[in-house]
Amino acid sequence: MWSMKNIPMSGKNFATVASGQLFPIMENSMKDSSLFKTMEHRYGSGILNLKKLTNYKPAIQMENLNNSRRNFLKHSAIATAGISIVPSFSVSGLGHKAPSDKMNIVGVGVGGKGHPNLVGMANENIIGLCDVDWKYAENCFKEFPNAKRYWDWRKMFDELGSSIDGVMVATPDHTHAIVAATALTLGKHVYCQKPLTHSVYESRLLTKLAVKHKVATQMGNQGNSGDGVRELCEWIWNGEIGEIKEVHAWTDRPIWPQGLQRPTQLMKTPKTLDWNLFIGTAPMRPFNEIYTPWNWRGWWDFGTGAFGDMACHVLDPVYQSLKLGSPEKVRGCSTAINTESAPQAETVEFTFPARDNLPKVGMPPVKVYWYDGGLYPNVSELLPEGENLMADGLGGCIFVGSKDTLICGCGGFNSRLVSGRIPKVTPYLRRIPGAIGYVDGFHEQDWIRACKESPESRVEGTSNFAYSGPFNEMVLLGVLAIRLQGLNKSLKWDAEKMRITNISATEELKIITSNEFKVIDGHPHFNTQYAKFNALETAKEYIQHTYREGWNLPAMA
Ligand SMILES: NC(=O)c1ccc[n+]([C@@H]2O[C@H](COP(=O)([O-])OP(=O)(O)OC[C@H]3O[C@@H](n4cnc5c(N)ncnc54)[C@H](O)[C@@H]3O)[C@@H](O)[C@H]2O)c1
Repeated sequence: MWSMKNIPMSGKNFATVASGQLFPIMENSMKDSSLFKTMEHRYGSGILNLKKLTNYKPAIQMENLNNSRRNFLKHSAIATAGISIVPSFSVSGLGHKAPSDKMNIVGVGVGGKGHPNLVGMANENIIGLCDVDWKYAENCFKEFPNAKRYWDWRKMFDELGSSIDGVMVATPDHTHAIVAATALTLGKHVYCQKPLTHSVYESRLLTKLAVKHKVATQMGNQGNSGDGVRELCEWIWNGEIGEIKEVHAWTDRPIWPQGLQRPTQLMKTPKTLDWNLFIGTAPMRPFNEIYTPWNWRGWWDFGTGAFGDMACHVLDPVYQSLKLGSPEKVRGCSTAINTESAPQAETVEFTFPARDNLPKVGMPPVKVYWYDGGLYPNVSELLPEGENLMADGLGGCIFVGSKDTLICGCGGFNSRLVSGRIPKVTPYLRRIPGAIGYVDGFHEQDWIRACKESPESRVEGTSNFAYSGPFNEMVLLGVLAIRLQGLNKSLKWDAEKMRITNISATEELKIITSNEFKVIDGHPHFNTQYAKFNALETAKEYIQHTYREGWNLPAMA
């Protein structure tokens, strides 16, 4: 299990990498607290940076802010309304910042993962915080007392407008795209959590808008900044395991409820939650505490189930090292699936065509198999006896090569060859100093570095949208295949046109709407109801959602 023990907690690895007290060493007593354990379970080792567990000091001190921006203040008027805001450097037309100049960052969705993400950015100015649940967001609000608070990110963008340099998005998956696309269109740098979006169309849009507006972007799959995936790529590209035609990848998630039907019980919406804003682009439904926080993941309208949630972490080394691009076919299979929530356990089979060969290794057609919800690859001929597939925590991958088999943990950590041989390859890919495991801060800091470089010479963060947008499309195609599994076929994908080519106009899709079980007179009685849909129209809707009235994405760039 990837745990605190694996994280080198020396001053060398933390305090000196980031500025000042951003990454102090955690005391042992804190690691035993129940809050810490819950958060570690949910967020992995990234919680190292939570202020509650550290003695981190808020980065925004009025004096520092004014000093660090003194050059820009000369040229601009400052809005002051309980908060000191200086105009955005990028919109002031100079194109880049000196690394020592601070960015103005706002956060949207700050009660959960957004909180450690912002702490990982807290050596910049955190000037605005937006959340629809002010009780859940309270800890983050306290963390950044000088940041202005909002319920509605549209109001925050209106009011703080040109002062904003960068936007951090950590809302549930269904609202990533609307927030991120609006921010990109306004010329803001964007750090957006994984999965980048909820639909393939939204991914394509963000990818294009990021190019058009020449801003720095990063998807929040923080393992992507770690050394593990780089070492794994160097090994594979050096031909250490030969040509790869088969990969297996898995996670032990979900650790939230799935396979549920929509609750019918009516509940009063808490005063501290704006339910209408939580629903955002999705169809309206009555409030129920089962949806938010956290558990929205399992509900199709808001999340993408265990596969969508974890694949951007687990499959990152696969997508990157094998230069996958778009699959030509994808097929899903799972436990019983209904119209409302993701099934309890899922498998997906992706088929990729050959890609351009590399100097030292060919890239033949490859199949990528996914497993979650307690299912694991059942491939005894590939695995050493007794191999614990969750030994690295979160999940892992097996790359089946023509010369050897490589096993790694989630994010490409702890790569090892089944032969026991240790490849000797001189590292040459860019490393992010200090980035190890799933610790937050380094991935965010690499985005901040990129934001401050001019677009012409910028070294992009490695999970910038040009990479993570197409990668996220692959992940969402897996979700699509799970949802369309009732068609009983591999779905053929036309990436350019964003359409499945082997569903006819009249084909029907049957999905469970309710599933009841009773024992009557000692006998089991099942009552399973189904709804029928036009398969082609349903597929189109999953690929590009119809937004609720009043919510519109910017046009495709
Ligand atoms: N990279 C990682 O390791 C990691 C870990 C956990 C979560 N995540 C991702 O972060 C995102 C958030 O997940 P989470 O676990 O923090 O969920 P969460 O439910 O714990 O937190 C989401 C926050 O967003 C707020 N919110 C919801 N809708 C909003 C809106 N329209 N505007 C503003 N705020 C809104 C909620 O009130 C809540 O505070 C997801 O995309 C998830 O996949 C990434």
